[in-house]
Amino acid sequence: MLRYYLSHVKLIAIKSTVSKQEQLKKESAEKAVEQVESGMILGLGTGSTTIYAIKKIGELWQAGQLTDIICIPTSERTASLAREYGIPLTSLNDHPHIDLTIDGADEVDPQLNLVKGLGGALLREKIIAMSSRIFIAIVDESKLVDRLGTLAPLPVEVTQFASQAHGYWLEQLPCRPELRSKNGSPYITDNENYIIDCHFSDGIDDPVELSTKLHHHPGILDHGLFLNIASEVIVAGQAGIRSMLSLS
Ligand code: A5P
Repeated sequence: MLRYYLSHVKLIAIKSTVSKQEQLKKESAEKAVEQVESGMILGLGTGSTTIYAIKKIGELWQAGQLTDIICIPTSERTASLAREYGIPLTSLNDHPHIDLTIDGADEVDPQLNLVKGLGGALLREKIIAMSSRIFIAIVDESKLVDRLGTLAPLPVEVTQFASQAHGYWLEQLPCRPELRSKNGSPYITDNENYIIDCHFSDGIDDPVELSTKLHHHPGILDHGLFLNIASEVIVAGQAGIRSMLSLS
């Protein structure tokens, strides 16, 4: 009986931690949406935090409080959620200059460098982030790290062709590469590529050097290091919401 009671209490504690984290994600997302204005071209990120931003934008759009916006989604998942709200969508080909993009992150360091891509959309996310005048990352405080690569692996998008060889090459970084899978098969991105998650035992020593190295290897399409890209990071925590602004 006592054991049942304790496990029940533990379950309630876990549930309340999860719902608290969801609440924080929602708060950071909705804070970012305060910067959305009518007439903007918007980039819509991917992931569980960004869902709250898309929903809020959708509600404002449906209520007529936001008008004349047009959005570019970073994934098929995001596009279908935006469609549910009737949010008008376009492509980067038609609108190459984005006013504002809101997206989540897996890690944020004190310089506002990010790791992204656990949701599998890193390539389109980076293209869209780099085309944005303002890029706001939205996170709950659990994503803050002193050193990138300590909390999350670094996702690397690679061609399906020679994917095993890419893994051997990544091993010498050094890291432990792991081909991402879903339901027992390799995970396939919206761009028909694979993702290799790179686990660093003690984090990433030099993110700039690593980024350059990865960009120069044939077959690597992109990676989840978003260095010097975020204009602002909105962090929701137990003590409230704070904004970290980029100095560059
Ligand atoms: C999607 O590919 C990712 O870059 C996400 O933005 C990132 O993983 C954060 O996702 P959550 O908001 O779900 O934590």
